Amino acid sequence: MADDHAHVQDFFSVRAAGWDSRFPDDGPAYAAAVDTLGLRPGDAVLDAGCGTGRALPHLRDAVGPGGKVLGADLTPAMLDAAVRAGRAASGDLLVADAARLPVRGGALDAVFAAGLISHLTHPGEGLRELARVVRPGGRLALFHPIGRAALAARHGRSISDADLRAEPHLGPLLAHAGWVLDSYTDEDDRFLVLAVRAH
Ligand SMILES: C[S@@+](CC[C@H](N)C(=O)[O-])C[C@H]1O[C@@H](n2cnc3c(N)ncnc32)[C@H](O)[C@@H]1O
Repeated sequence: MADDHAHVQDFFSVRAAGWDSRFPDDGPAYAAAVDTLGLRPGDAVLDAGCGTGRALPHLRDAVGPGGKVLGADLTPAMLDAAVRAGRAASGDLLVADAARLPVRGGALDAVFAAGLISHLTHPGEGLRELARVVRPGGRLALFHPIGRAALAARHGRSISDADLRAEPHLGPLLAHAGWVLDSYTDEDDRFLVLAVRAH
């Protein structure tokens, strides 16, 4: 596990400083994805694998000054970039593994996770941990600002149903982890899966 974490940290550490400038036009897509969580003022929400914190201002807007916003990431360099971008003003940042969160069970109303799930060593365990920290009836958004086919094409690959994020694979994974799949969207300009924490 430590080696897997080192691999993730190495991969993202060298990309942290330039991360936001690679994707300068994604802001509206993140705002729209956050909207789908249906957050209310005063809610508590986690951005799991928050990276440079691109979603944090949108999450703060949604929960208001009385809400709680947490951003957790395994790679300190990504969080350093979040601080430099002023995003610590939108939420509390912590270096943490999304699969072992220092958060009380049921403490959160929702989790937003952009670009995270493909990087988890054991996705089922990660999704179960996200379910642990969310109250029954709370929500999960798995988001990416580009669909699976478009992303695969960008990397010169093709997609298959064996892919972790393919609906036949992800649906059962979510169910075993304590989530009820609510909607599955995989379009060129957005991958968005919404799930509800089972009671
Ligand atoms: C593709 S980036 C996305 C960052 C950010 N959510 C965004 O949309 O810009 C994936 C992020 O997940 C983080 N990450 C990967 N595995 C993680 C884990 N097990 N726990 C927490 N963060 C993790 C990486 O460090 C990286 O910052």
